[in-house]
Amino acid sequence: MADRIDVLFDEEKIVSRVKELGKQISEDYKDKEVTIICILKGASFFACELAKRITVPVYFDFMKVSSYGNETESSGVVKIVQDLDEPIRGKNVIVVEDIIDSGRTMHYLFDILRSRGPESVKLCALLDKPDRRVTEVDIDYTGFVIPDKFVVGYGLDYAQKYRNLPYIGVVTLDENN
Ligand code: IMP
Ligand code: MG
Repeated sequence: MADRIDVLFDEEKIVSRVKELGKQISEDYKDKEVTIICILKGASFFACELAKRITVPVYFDFMKVSSYGNETESSGVVKIVQDLDEPIRGKNVIVVEDIIDSGRTMHYLFDILRSRGPESVKLCALLDKPDRRVTEVDIDYTGFVIPDKFVVGYGLDYAQKYRNLPYIGVVTLDENN
């Protein structure tokens, strides 16, 4: 038997929501430039799609963070595994993340980013799982709010699998695995 994946948001629905977010960001940053920080690996599909829909000038950078913890739960202590290429001092930064769960990872990362003197830092998350929140996090742009279910696809993984699915689905693990 294989893991079961029930579609929550299909590709069409995701792309149409990302277009709306891109439009809103373009309006909010009118006459400015934005620096998108894509949090690897999960946010990569979302960040690329989003960047294409933003009409103000976009700088695009990557950061890879690992939060100490097990596969499905973060601890809140974040290690920067790969840092940005460019300084963010004076920049209008939008951190693009796949999902906000406990909130610990972004809470910790925002402290680090703010200490680097950006003009502003906002958070854009494809998914928000508010039932699981442990630490307060302000999400400025949210794709979809979801229930407390483990989801995969469109960049999100379970043990590095399923990132390439063009949709987001709830995964039910094969118990024989
Ligand atoms: P937080 O620090 O608990 O908010 O952790 C957020 C991170 O946990 C995300 O960047 C994901 O890597 C991971 N995560 C949380 N929930 C899910 C999920 O439902 N599917 C896949 N990854 C998840
Ligand atoms: Mg992640």
